[in-house]
Amino acid sequence: MKLNNYILTCQQIFKSYRMGATRLDVLKGIDLNIAKGEFVAIKGASGSGKSTLMHILGALDKPDKGGVFFEDKNLSAFSGRKINEFRNKKIGFVFQFYHLLDELTVLQNVLIAPMVQSGTIGWLLHSAKVKKTARQLLGELGLSDRTEHRPYQLSGGERQRVAIARALINQPDIILADEPTGNLDSKTGNDILKVFEKLHSAGQTIVMVTHDDRIAEKASRIIRLADGRIASA
Ligand SMILES: Nc1ncnc2c1ncn2[C@@H]1O[C@H](COP(=O)(O)OP(=O)(O)OP(=O)(O)O)[C@@H](O)[C@H]1O
Ligand SMILES: [Mg+2]
Repeated sequence: MKLNNYILTCQQIFKSYRMGATRLDVLKGIDLNIAKGEFVAIKGASGSGKSTLMHILGALDKPDKGGVFFEDKNLSAFSGRKINEFRNKKIGFVFQFYHLLDELTVLQNVLIAPMVQSGTIGWLLHSAKVKKTARQLLGELGLSDRTEHRPYQLSGGERQRVAIARALINQPDIILADEPTGNLDSKTGNDILKVFEKLHSAGQTIVMVTHDDRIAEKASRIIRLADGRIASA
């Protein structure tokens, strides 16, 4: 079977959570193909399993059943270490609540993934170049004069732009964004949306969970999750 027309594929994904004696079936057979360069919006009621699906797509969590394929590689065949490496290199995550580290500066937050990836010696060799790229990215996102700030000293929109820079630093093949404007006012949310639109027109593959119809309108495709399944594709 040829899977590699798609960047990310999942087949018959099932996921349940066990809470004491009860079992909550969240995903009940999800099939999904994401093509390179697509901007896919995922919608669905609160609790319908959107974040659960995003975590599985990004190899932050494993399905109980079913396969997740990146190009033609089956992620479940990867070891723990290989999965971390894969995630670090190929996937950029953006979350609703930013998940930035307050102890680090804006620049350092953006540098975490390449730093972890390169090891001490590698970092000594490459850090100047990576820092230059990070500053450039932050500049493009309008944060040139915020690089030494700590996240708590920034506005919500600025924090989300830092998170976007962090997601982009390794030139990921795909960006997974889970309600990236969910915590922002409508004007700031719009600015963040413009950043994603620009990335999309430059060829970036994006999967975004959103409740915002204005955002979904900009997507190449809208997927609705309901009752653990895709309601329409
Ligand atoms: N670790 C967990 N343990 C038990 N139940 C969980 C866990 N994570 C999620 N759930 C449950 O699974 C369901 C789906 O959760 P999920 O976070 O994927 O929903 P969502 O569609 O992202 O919702 P929202 O729009 O509110 O973010 C929810 O009912 C939630 O309570
Ligand atoms: Mg969610």
